[in-house]
Amino acid sequence: MQEKFYLTTAIDYVNGAPHIGHAYEKILSDVIIRHKRQLIDNAFMLTGTDEHGIKIQKTAQSRGITPKELCDENFSMFENAWKELEISYDKIIRTTDEQHKKVVKQIFKKLLENGDIYKHTYTGLYCSGCESFLNPKDLTEDGLCPDHMKKPEEITEENYFFKLTKYKDKIADYIKTHPDFILPSMRVNELLNQLENIEDISVSRTKESVQWGIGVEGDDTQTIYVWIDALSNYITAIGYDIENPSEQFKKLWPADVHVIGKDIIKFHSIYWIAILMSLGLPLPKTIFAHGWITIDQSKMSKSIGNVIAPKDVIEAFHLEKPDAFRYYMASAAPLGRDGNYSDEDFKEKVNADLANNIGNLLNRTLNMLVKYFDGELKEEFITDKNSKIAIQAENTKNQIIEAFNNYELAEAANILVAFSDSVNKYVTETAPWTLAKEEKMTECGKVLYTVLEAMRHIAIMLYPYCPNISEDILKQLNEKIDFKYENLYWGGLKAGKITDKDKIKPVFLRLDSEFAKDKKKDN
Ligand code: MSP
Repeated sequence: MQEKFYLTTAIDYVNGAPHIGHAYEKILSDVIIRHKRQLIDNAFMLTGTDEHGIKIQKTAQSRGITPKELCDENFSMFENAWKELEISYDKIIRTTDEQHKKVVKQIFKKLLENGDIYKHTYTGLYCSGCESFLNPKDLTEDGLCPDHMKKPEEITEENYFFKLTKYKDKIADYIKTHPDFILPSMRVNELLNQLENIEDISVSRTKESVQWGIGVEGDDTQTIYVWIDALSNYITAIGYDIENPSEQFKKLWPADVHVIGKDIIKFHSIYWIAILMSLGLPLPKTIFAHGWITIDQSKMSKSIGNVIAPKDVIEAFHLEKPDAFRYYMASAAPLGRDGNYSDEDFKEKVNADLANNIGNLLNRTLNMLVKYFDGELKEEFITDKNSKIAIQAENTKNQIIEAFNNYELAEAANILVAFSDSVNKYVTETAPWTLAKEEKMTECGKVLYTVLEAMRHIAIMLYPYCPNISEDILKQLNEKIDFKYENLYWGGLKAGKITDKDKIKPVFLRLDSEFAKDKKKDN
């Protein structure tokens, strides 16, 4: 059977513009999927937008437009932001898509037929920020929602309820017996505790209170409540249909990873799993809960006024390509921990890693190749696959694959930079300029080959983070543009004319370089 990898992101609420928290998740996901595509042919990334619910309804009302008009407007902001960041998703789903709505109705009906949904009158505390009823135990001392710092509304309604309690033990069992199911594993205990106290959940709202949503078939008094609607996107987008699931669905499901933020882990590892169990579908392999991005160490919020959009960073630093921002975000935090964005940090990190370390290594080596060999690598310069740097390159590749398998993206970036560091040290130690002065030309050529072949490896491994810089490195090495991992073997860099003086350019300009400053003045 052909290997596949199916990754999904959370689908974003479209009540505002995307900020760098949303971007963080999409970048992490894109880096993972680009890495998987380097290894296998069938790697698929799904993202999307979550468009129903009371918040959209109210905002649209206050602006005097229809909810769909509001969604269309805001959806394009998300679509444009992902384009600018070069998020290479295979599909973007909107929960207002006709096909999605049709299948959500089927799913709801099936859960009803299975006896897992029942009607019940309920009084609860509803937070429209979470689009969810809250447990009074989870509120702050002042009775506010801890995520949105807003007082939830007390609501009494007759709604449909899903029998979550029926699946409680099975879910706990699944979590305990599948160590890779929830990553990072530090979240497991917290979830098992929540599961202990879990109650059946409301899965619809009355039509009176929420009109903007998918109706329940055969009951025009109720609107399906956003979480069943939203979570189902992971299967409806790839062609799930109760009667007749598509070939694509059969190939891709179950998801290999749902990439989501730590705030919605309960919905994914408890609610979603129970729904899948009721539908009799296989369960996702991993739920990867990333941390949150803060700005200068504070939570991003409209009231503080510190919300940053990805395009703000791109514009402030006059970035022509998103590579540096992608690199910074993807390496902002260890697995599942919170990360922080600050302009200073961003500048320092990308200058150090992309300009001083990786970029400079390529630049000075190509310059030496021109100076000593007129830009040509001779056959006899090709070094052995048992040489120290060659072995390090192989180890780096294996460590990076391992880190990606554990969703340790920051760690994978560190491993790559450490390799580039040791190649830089190798240049200092072997001092090719001295070898040239002493007229040990073959030895000098061998050093340059070793560095440039290491550079070819670095370009391929850097690709998921920085696709444009990587392409530029391969071009300057006069190599074909192919980022598959099968190209990672020592000796792949061909002998022959590589470059000329005027073809050598920095692959990444320091953000505070004179040149970059001049560019700012021009704009
Ligand atoms: N619509 C729901 C998800 C449904 S998934 C079936 C939702 N939307 S959201 O727009 O509020 O958040 C979308 C994703 O962005 C979530 O995974 C959330 O954790 C993430 N983030 C929102 N703000 C964030 C930060 N400040 N930092 C990192 N991620 C953040 O929840």
